[in-house]
Amino acid sequence: MNASHGASRVVALVPAAGMGVRLGENKPKAFVPVGGSPMLALAVSGLIDSGSVDEVVVMVPAELVDETRALLPVSNILVHVVIGGAERTDSVRAGLNAAPDADFVLVHDAARALTPHSLITRVVDELRAGAQAVIPALPVTDTIKAVNATGAVVGTPDRASLRAIQTPQGFEAALLRAAYATGTQATDDAGLVELLGATVRTVPGDALAFKITTPLDLVLANTLVAQDGTTGTREAVTTR
Ligand code: CTP
Ligand code: MG
Repeated sequence: MNASHGASRVVALVPAAGMGVRLGENKPKAFVPVGGSPMLALAVSGLIDSGSVDEVVVMVPAELVDETRALLPVSNILVHVVIGGAERTDSVRAGLNAAPDADFVLVHDAARALTPHSLITRVVDELRAGAQAVIPALPVTDTIKAVNATGAVVGTPDRASLRAIQTPQGFEAALLRAAYATGTQATDDAGLVELLGATVRTVPGDALAFKITTPLDLVLANTLVAQDGTTGTREAVTTR
């Protein structure tokens, strides 16, 4: 049965095989707790509870497959655990291979553990409305500069046209498979799709979908959960 209206199947791939070097905890980042629950469990619960996803594939380090099965939420939704790879693209490729029946694919970082349900649904709704590729975007608040190898500024792009990009990123499954088949590299999944010449649409992101990357991010995430019970309500804080 599909979680949402329509016959097409939405499979969420959750890359969780990174080491979390910048966070500096004593375990891979997706397994670090936020408000007492591993980030990965929170991210998967968010996808399931959004009601917009039919199946989930999580990609984890090989030695943590059994531990992952034990920590994932119990649900009617099929959740597969597969072994990730050395780079994030390798992990996503492993997830794609485990989702042969997908019509639409979401790729959603485990490290965006507090992502609101409404953002997940916004991305899926845009796909169902006909978009081939959809990414959440927020205006940038800092001025961004390009620098050369010596650190000297070489340009200041107009901030009004810049966006910070989050996950979940959503794609027609065939398009993302084609992008991965090229074997090229990009810093996000949409970047690979752009190289094929496909149109990537943006929807408003949400500040709560921030990626927990540094120790400061972890303090913020734990504080949000402690103060607001964010993991329970997942209310959006920003819709533009
Ligand atoms: N990821 C993955 N496989 C990799 C690298 C990253 O599945 N080989 C996942 C991470 O687990 C994370 C997401 O991709 O959920 C975003 O990556 P990032 O924030 O960079 O996480 P890490 O790579 O774990 O962190 P760091 O770069 O600080 O080591
Ligand atoms: Mg990384």
